[in-house]
Amino acid sequence: MALERVKDLLDAAEKEHTSVIAFDACDYNTIYACIKGAETARRPVIVMLYPAMRELFSFRAFAAAVKDLARGASVPVGLHLDHCSDLTTIVEAIRDGFTSVMADGSALPLEENIAFTKSVVEIARIFDVDVEGEIGHVGQVAGGFDYQNADTFTRPDEAALFAERTGVASVAVAFGSCHGMYKAAPNLDLERLAEIDRTVNIPLVLHGGSGIPTDQLEQAFRMGINKFNVGTEFFLLNAKLCREAYTSDEMQKTPFAGVAEIRKGLTEYIAEKLKLCTMSV
Ligand code: 13P
Repeated sequence: MALERVKDLLDAAEKEHTSVIAFDACDYNTIYACIKGAETARRPVIVMLYPAMRELFSFRAFAAAVKDLARGASVPVGLHLDHCSDLTTIVEAIRDGFTSVMADGSALPLEENIAFTKSVVEIARIFDVDVEGEIGHVGQVAGGFDYQNADTFTRPDEAALFAERTGVASVAVAFGSCHGMYKAAPNLDLERLAEIDRTVNIPLVLHGGSGIPTDQLEQAFRMGINKFNVGTEFFLLNAKLCREAYTSDEMQKTPFAGVAEIRKGLTEYIAEKLKLCTMSV
């Protein structure tokens, strides 16, 4: 199966009232686990890269690795550039093979966010690339962001205006989530999500997926979330598996043996997480 358009995956999820799950990856093992885990679970998957990680894994090499594994996969796979607020970097990612990008202008005032996102959509459209925007702001736990502060949540009227004026394929919305491991369990404002879903007619995206209780996720998926982003808990698991594998006695005897163990643990995690998505393929 070749790479699928992220827009097509999200539109299909919207019809089935569920969410495709998107994971941030950082190396070949994490990409491999996303795709093998998706095959095990019989679910679609989206593999994402944070722009800053291009220092470790170039856009071109990352996109090529995802496309190569997607070609041999039995399930649909999407490729996406996560949070990017720099136009040049976005264009470089498109040039290097990314088929979906996030234009993150959420730290800007509304009109500037609209103008920035619209400019990305206009360029991306030329290359048939999908764009995700963000309205409201999902911050970082590490930066002291108060994820229970409703002032940062998405306003349904602004979300509708944003979607209409930018032409994005999907939009990330803020209703009580945050990037990084939560200090106290989040309490998603599902009423707000329902209201946003009533006013916005494109797929909605939930960021800050690590550590949100399952019952809240299931409700959010039924109520309009069609793309769900997970990063931190996957990276922390990767670090733990690497630590264990590379210090084992077996590793001293067979230095490459650790890679298989790391991939196995990561793949099991992805397959389990993907059960949250009810869209089988
Ligand atoms: P977490 O790192 O909190 O899982 O969030 C990931 C994310 O939303 C990436 O866009």
